Amino acid sequence: MRFPLFRLMVFIVVAAVPLYWLYEAWAFALGPDPGKTLVDRLGLGALVLLFITLAMTPMQKLTGWSGWIVTRRQLGLWCFAFVALHLTAYCVFILGLDWAQLGVELSKRPYIIVGALGFIGLLALALTSNRYSQRRLGRRWKKLHRAVYGILALGLLHMLWVVRADLKEWSLYALIGAVLMCLRIPVVAAVLPRIRTKSANTVINAQ
Ligand code: HEM
Repeated sequence: MRFPLFRLMVFIVVAAVPLYWLYEAWAFALGPDPGKTLVDRLGLGALVLLFITLAMTPMQKLTGWSGWIVTRRQLGLWCFAFVALHLTAYCVFILGLDWAQLGVELSKRPYIIVGALGFIGLLALALTSNRYSQRRLGRRWKKLHRAVYGILALGLLHMLWVVRADLKEWSLYALIGAVLMCLRIPVVAAVLPRIRTKSANTVINAQ
């Protein structure tokens, strides 16, 4: 296994976040509506993890360090875990496990349908993120995993629907998402290793 320490460090840092929220819930430090706070934090956490996952390939191209790529799968699985917890927290704290209310909830909060599509997409990616699926699906694996950009768009649309009144915060997230998508355009992606070579040459020439 390559970069075991870096992988472990990523694992510990990401796992510490929901554990800290759990501690805050235990200490009554999550505000007047702790359930809703948890739903919001887990949703936002999932989106941030999706950004970080998508930033790993451009980071590798820019720095030449393959440690970024090695943690990509783990980060993607963490993103799925956060979304699964976000959905669970919604079912427990907002829906109150009252399944008869689900129809009413869906008409009151239609953005849940968009979130659910994102969840299904992430579930498909998480289930096929192993080497066995990669071998079995061959070329189709890459095509399937390109769906991550659609999932990102669904996550951003879902968030926009929730925070309609606060477009400032959403715009920042949308901008980050747009930059990450642009970095995948082949012409743009090809520039990244050149930036690395150029800055390395500048350092050598300066010595
Ligand atoms: C079945 C799946 C999902 C359900 C039921 C769901 C449900 C919810 C609900 C009810 C809220 C608003 C809570 C409130 O009233 O403030 C919310 C907010 C949010 N969700 Fe989801 N969601 C789902 C999937 C997703 C996915 C896939 C993502 C991202 C990848 C996501 C990211 C967010 C974000 C960023 C927010 C806004 C948090 C904030 O305002 O700070 N959700 N979600």
